[in-house]
Amino acid sequence: MIVTIDGPAGAGKSTVARGLAARLGYLFLDTGAMYRAATYAVMQSGDLKEQKSRIMVTNGIQIDVQGNTVLINGNDVSSLIRTAEVTRNIHFLADDPLVRSRLVKRQRAIARGQNVVTEGRDQGTVAFPDAEFKIFLTASPEERARRRHTERSALGEEITIDEILASQNIRDKQDETRTVGALQKAADALEVVTDGMTIENVIALLEKIVLKK
Ligand code: C5P
Repeated sequence: MIVTIDGPAGAGKSTVARGLAARLGYLFLDTGAMYRAATYAVMQSGDLKEQKSRIMVTNGIQIDVQGNTVLINGNDVSSLIRTAEVTRNIHFLADDPLVRSRLVKRQRAIARGQNVVTEGRDQGTVAFPDAEFKIFLTASPEERARRRHTERSALGEEITIDEILASQNIRDKQDETRTVGALQKAADALEVVTDGMTIENVIALLEKIVLKK
């Protein structure tokens, strides 16, 4: 069975998808990590602005996502792909239809024959249109920015909610307006608005719904 969870940045998708996968005993697939890994690889050995270079680098690497660990050609890049610089550059890869089609192929190969909870922007619409269960997880922009602020402050970062909201608005716009693989609720997805809910509440709710199906 394939469960897809799509939604905007900061909606808690990764934590919810990871928790739900653990409860169900399913594989967890973080597809954002794949776009991050490809971006990191091009930053290291290619030219982000050249499509030829983006494709050559992406085609030449093997990306593996094992739980929280992300590997490029067997090398652990889990923390290297979470920098602000990688986040800023992702749009070069995420907006490229050829890169997307290569990564979608890889996502399908990883999921083949498995029970999976997969998380991203286009999982229910493009990667797995026939998924048995689709969730669109969202929250208001202010709530998402507040959550990010709490996380980042806990890590000792000095940043205001307004600064987070401003960069979040840019990412939302980039995600919603790309021509291929744009962030969109699949027609048959269940929308869950998580304002005021704890992560634990959300996981429990989704587990109940999926198991009922
Ligand atoms: O989920 P995360 O924030 O780590 O994803 C990083 C970026 O990768 C997103 O902002 C989005 O632009 C892109 N992405 C995508 N399609 C996916 C998953 C992520 O375009 N399926």
